[in-house]
Amino acid sequence: MEIREMQSTDIDFALSLTEDEGWSSIRRDFEELLLFDQHGCFIAEEDGISIGMACALSYGPFGTLGNLILVREYRGRRYGTRLMEHGLEYLKRKGVKFTMLDAVPKAVPLYERLGFKKVCRSLRLRGRVEPVVSAKVRTLEDKDMLRILSIDREQFGANRFLFLGSALSSNPDLGRLLEVDGRIAGFMLGSRRHGFVRLAPWIMCSHFELAKSLLKDFAVRVGGKEIRAGVLETSRKAVAVFKDSGLYQESVSWRMVHGRERMEFSDGIFAIGSPMRG
Ligand SMILES: CC(C)(COP(=O)(O)OP(=O)(O)OC[C@H]1O[C@@H](n2cnc3c(N)ncnc32)[C@H](O)[C@@H]1OP(=O)(O)O)[C@@H](O)C(=O)NCCC(=O)NCCS
Repeated sequence: MEIREMQSTDIDFALSLTEDEGWSSIRRDFEELLLFDQHGCFIAEEDGISIGMACALSYGPFGTLGNLILVREYRGRRYGTRLMEHGLEYLKRKGVKFTMLDAVPKAVPLYERLGFKKVCRSLRLRGRVEPVVSAKVRTLEDKDMLRILSIDREQFGANRFLFLGSALSSNPDLGRLLEVDGRIAGFMLGSRRHGFVRLAPWIMCSHFELAKSLLKDFAVRVGGKEIRAGVLETSRKAVAVFKDSGLYQESVSWRMVHGRERMEFSDGIFAIGSPMRG
């Protein structure tokens, strides 16, 4: 098995893998990853045929790994482990101090063997939310971007400008901002997927009591479609707001970390950006 860098011409293959797993990835997900770091996604090949992939992303102080999938016939030969080792080595060269990922329960032993440790559960929620317009919520506009980026950086711990900018330009109507006395209390972005809307990310920095009204206002934009979101179980206020608003738990992954003993996340992160986007 050999490992090479993913090119934009590999995106069809990448999407065939995610589709086969029932993941809801879209072309833009991979385009963004390659735009963020054109050397960070990898294709595994055997005899010149693509058989798997994995992606690595450095945010500077820390990195993330994800999109690990192998064509079924090639599983169980430690190729998945080798792809992850390759990603870890890549991030090490980039100078990251630690690396995070979200693991489906079946893959936890693979990651543990590589030195990853469980931090907390990362919940996958879905459901329909009652749509209610809020006077305190408005459309997130380009002019808000600098303030949003600074809030996001404080909560997330690194700059996600490319993902936030891309989400806003792809689905401008799904960018919602909660404002109290002229100050941003929270914001959310979304993306239309096949038959549902993914809410990602959602950040709150104050007035957590208004989080539910922001979510309900977002539901107005979604037009009756199902909303899906990922949330860390340690974000207790967020979990309570989601469950109280009609979302239910579809599945559970494990947030795991490599290169660090302990890890805490801001409880202002109400919905993660995606496993690789924090
Ligand atoms: C995850 C995956 C890439 C592993 O590839 P692989 O080459 O078979 O893995 P390795 O041989 O290096 O290691 C085997 C480990 O894979 C994991 N694994 C096995 N079946 C799996 C499955 N259906 N889904 C996820 N992980 C699985 C287990 O942790 C296993 O460890 P164990 O043998 O101690 O139980 C492959 O199973 C796959 O493509 N699964 C579907 C996509 C997926 O779940 N990706 C991980 C998302 S976090």
